[in-house]
Amino acid sequence: MPSSNRRILVTGGAGYIGSHTTLQLLDTGYDVVVVDNLSRGRREAVDPARLREVDLLDTESLVRVMNEKPFDAVIHFAAYISVGESMKTPELYFHNNTAGSLSLLTAMIRTGIKNVVFSSTAAVYGMPTTVPIPESEPYAPVNAYGETKVMVEKMLNWFDQLHQLRSICLRYFNASGADPEGRTGEEHDPETHLIPLLFLAIKTGKPVTLFGSDYPTPDGTCIRDYIHVSDLARAHIAAVESLVNGGPSAKYNVGTGQGYSVQEVLRAVEEVTGRSVPYTFGPRREGDPPLLVADSSRLQRDLGWKPVDSGLNRIVETAWKWFNRARA
Ligand code: UFG
Repeated sequence: MPSSNRRILVTGGAGYIGSHTTLQLLDTGYDVVVVDNLSRGRREAVDPARLREVDLLDTESLVRVMNEKPFDAVIHFAAYISVGESMKTPELYFHNNTAGSLSLLTAMIRTGIKNVVFSSTAAVYGMPTTVPIPESEPYAPVNAYGETKVMVEKMLNWFDQLHQLRSICLRYFNASGADPEGRTGEEHDPETHLIPLLFLAIKTGKPVTLFGSDYPTPDGTCIRDYIHVSDLARAHIAAVESLVNGGPSAKYNVGTGQGYSVQEVLRAVEEVTGRSVPYTFGPRREGDPPLLVADSSRLQRDLGWKPVDSGLNRIVETAWKWFNRARA
């Protein structure tokens, strides 16, 4: 791992993936300032001395923060992430995610910061035609959330060409797990993600609904590529190092290449926790592709990244430890 005195500005550092990456940056010797408006993030997740409570849409305040010290790069996490919500209030998503990113990039251009790592998503592909999915798969989002990320990726292409602003877009598959040391973890309100919902079913005794049992997969439930949040954090650090060392702009999938069905995840939760998960089957959730698995060979080849914490049981163990601490 690179150790450095580099200064990194992290947007959304109070959120799930942002807080893990911030901790890992600090563990590795980076200096970090976090910009977060705390609309969805957790205040406790950030050292108050590092936090600047600023909204992404407030370009002037971003410029002020960026002028605090000479930042080497920005890692841009801040965004709304709920696919379902994006289909009810798309305006909120285009405003916060797309216009917010434009405001951030404008502030970077004004202050001369030339490197950005951007949180993108497998949702840019929609219903992919090739699985495992390579980065060459065309953009075809099936929800507004994915479209907001496509728009930012496209802006980044233009800013590279016209402002020499270098970017690495990391297209996450299913972020999961928690800091192995238990310092931070996943906590969304409302929770929509599978693993914490399986834990909630154990805790409350109220059955979780599995969305669909008739998909064209071996057990009829959707298959996803679960990637441990610590592995995601490592991908961000590798991306920052590449850019700061003069590497080119790029787009990378971040996943393991291994898919698990909803029922396999449920069984792993039962095995790790030693508890049974009450569940029922419900109808399919709109916009859920049957199979999403990453081809991450480009990331492995170019940046030397590889997943180390993403075994399914390891993901569930770390997430369960955090769940019991956070919701005790
Ligand atoms: N699922 C259920 N019941 C639930 C919740 C989820 O059966 O109560 C299923 C889903 O249908 C899906 C799987 O569990 O098959 C995983 O669902 P999540 O909601 O945990 O994650 P998604 O795959 O829907 O979404 C994730 C990110 C999105 C991102 C997407 C990209 O959360 O931000 O991957 O594919 F857009």
